[in-house]
Amino acid sequence: MLAIIGGSGLTQLSCLEISNRQIIRTPYGEPSGPLTFGKLKNEDVVFLARHGHGHTIPPHAVNYRANLWALHSLKPSHVIAVASVGGIRSDLIPGRLVIPHQIIDYTHGRKFTYFDTTDQRVTHIDFTIPYCQQTRVLLLQAATHANEEIIDGGVYAATQGPRLETAAEISRLERDGADMVGMTGMPETALARELGLNYATLAVVANYAAGRGTNVNGIPLREIYAVLERAMVSVRNILEYVVSRDGY
Ligand code: HPA
Repeated sequence: MLAIIGGSGLTQLSCLEISNRQIIRTPYGEPSGPLTFGKLKNEDVVFLARHGHGHTIPPHAVNYRANLWALHSLKPSHVIAVASVGGIRSDLIPGRLVIPHQIIDYTHGRKFTYFDTTDQRVTHIDFTIPYCQQTRVLLLQAATHANEEIIDGGVYAATQGPRLETAAEISRLERDGADMVGMTGMPETALARELGLNYATLAVVANYAAGRGTNVNGIPLREIYAVLERAMVSVRNILEYVVSRDGY
């Protein structure tokens, strides 16, 4: 079964034929909301809205551990995390879709690991390649079949939020090698690896990052939602191809 985590702009998966919703409790507390089970193109899918059904949970308050634990308990074939980002690299203009291949963590104060108790051996995970390559390829191939333009690769900078960045912060992220910036990529990506999930991110560029493109004097927030709404048509289209190629 494919698992989909929906971000801003994708709090519901309208193309999903819902069969039931299930509240799952985990040792880490409750996920952002009930898991929604249903069929997409006749294939089983589970969907979880990262920010809650009504988009009320800010990025720093998301219970990432509970979310990933709940999905992991269902043994999904792949986990696809849809996430909105600000574009730093010049080709990452609003509306573009991109599958990041690397991530840098600038978040703090979040519950970022399952390995934080003293009753188990100290555990380090390999995180050299943070995203599951097989899942990335699944997304890239689905996009090709769906006739949707998509960019293969980019470095995701995960910031703390909920405020957007300053122009100087974006310049710093760019000097660090970041191509896009979002607030939810960490610890979600690392927790997925700790659980051994086949996890990749489908990033949607919602806006030029602060100080970039047409946003030299500020980010017009109202436009972000309009961009996301349009882009989600492509996202849904790609997800439909992903499930039909998932091969389970
Ligand atoms: N910065 C951080 N997170 C974001 C942005 C941004 O510009 N756009 C969408 N998520």
